[in-house]
Amino acid sequence: MKITAVLLAAGQGTRMKSDLPKVLHPLCGKPMLWHVLEALKEVTTEPPVVVVGHGAEAVTKYLGDTARTVLQEPQLGTGHAAMQAESLLRGDTDLVILTYADMPLLRGETFKRLVEAQRLTPGPFSLLTVRAEDPRGFGRIVRKPDGTVEAIVEEYVATPEQRQIKELNVGAYCFNAGWLWDALRRIEKNPKKGEYYLTDLVEIAARDNLPVQAVTHDDFTETIGINTRVHLSEAEAAMRKRINQMHMLNGVSMMNPASTYIEAGVQIGRDTTLLPNTYIHGKTVIGERNFIGPNTIIRDTTIGNGCRILASVMEGAVLEDDVDMGPFARLRKGAHLKSHVHMGNFGEVKDSVLREGVKMGHFSYIGNADIGANTNIGAGTITCNYDGDKKHPTTIGEDVFIGSDTMLVAPLTLGDGSRTGAGAVVTKNVPEDTLVVGMPARAIRKLERKNKKK
Ligand code: UD1
Ligand code: CA
Repeated sequence: MKITAVLLAAGQGTRMKSDLPKVLHPLCGKPMLWHVLEALKEVTTEPPVVVVGHGAEAVTKYLGDTARTVLQEPQLGTGHAAMQAESLLRGDTDLVILTYADMPLLRGETFKRLVEAQRLTPGPFSLLTVRAEDPRGFGRIVRKPDGTVEAIVEEYVATPEQRQIKELNVGAYCFNAGWLWDALRRIEKNPKKGEYYLTDLVEIAARDNLPVQAVTHDDFTETIGINTRVHLSEAEAAMRKRINQMHMLNGVSMMNPASTYIEAGVQIGRDTTLLPNTYIHGKTVIGERNFIGPNTIIRDTTIGNGCRILASVMEGAVLEDDVDMGPFARLRKGAHLKSHVHMGNFGEVKDSVLREGVKMGHFSYIGNADIGANTNIGAGTITCNYDGDKKHPTTIGEDVFIGSDTMLVAPLTLGDGSRTGAGAVVTKNVPEDTLVVGMPARAIRKLERKNKKK
């Protein structure tokens, strides 16, 4: 059985007061639209169709090849939007799951319930409803005395009695495709707003004595639709809670989930603890037994196991196991800290490898460098990697001791076991096991290395 999703995303989203199309506004790091498409993936067998209109170019660009798009121009309402999918889908799918792109909290399992319900009924479609005290402008579900659904009445045309109805139209439907396309043509233009309302399909089915089935849902947070930025923040809070609960159930501890911000798609291993005010963004993968935060921002970074990261900021970095970082450390793109690296306060690393056991305790800048195992970077060391025109590399061997306040003027190589004196300005390569001092630094002594490999 072919099941295809049609997502309506052409509306202007006027109430957002934004230049960005509503469906591209982010929720936990991903556009609203992404969340709906993820959930729909769980039930559909075919690639989705997205109806675009307002901001079509940006929406289509974002979707790339993840969806087929059809243009709705002009935008004459949800029924009119649904009609646009006919050209792509007539004769090509058995069921159509139709929903709105501004409902990002609906879960895959909820769509599954809807599909299951439709497969078991002879009627032309099933729709999702929710019982809630706050109607939030949703259409009201009008039932006949025998319980069958008779109509959906939009709030602004509802009578005072209808407004009291607590059962609301969520905006998710599963149609028999064989019925849908012709029925859509029967929707009449709403005289007040000049729009074609998808919700009129209920009355159209009723007129033909075809039963419409309602699947009632009780989790109102799943049905938060976004029309304003107030709704967006409510949805964000609900989504954040959902993401955090998923991680906690997978074995991640959070001292205060309400102040722990994890974007959709982030992976975290068990027995990792997150302290308050930790933000984890983008394509981040975190292993087990890490202790992270408070006040830490992590983006597009891979972290191994057993690391301790305190009040630090990183982006595009890799940390292997048992790294000890912070407070106030900063990793930029291409920073790679191997196992047992210690990086203390006010350090910055970009495009550099710090090999096993490197210690960099206090206020240093390391850029375009490769630092050998067990080397010690003294306080205030700087790789002077930029000559105003190009970036140059610095290569430091193993077991090197860089004295406090050393300037390493790149391109530069320091051999294994070498040392620099405090305040040295190193402009020439340093041979292994050699001590250099001064400005510019000169070699003054050959050194004995205790743990030198034979
Ligand atoms: C709609 C429903 C309402 C339901 C509510 C739930 C209708 C007539 N009303 O109202 O019963 O309770 O959703 O959230 O369907 N869109 C288009 N083209 C258009 C108009 C809208 O693609 O011409 C898209 C929008 O981008 C949006 C979705 O359809 O994603 C819903 O439109 P919106 O205007 O937000 O409908 P509501 O007033 O919320
Ligand atoms: Ca809406």
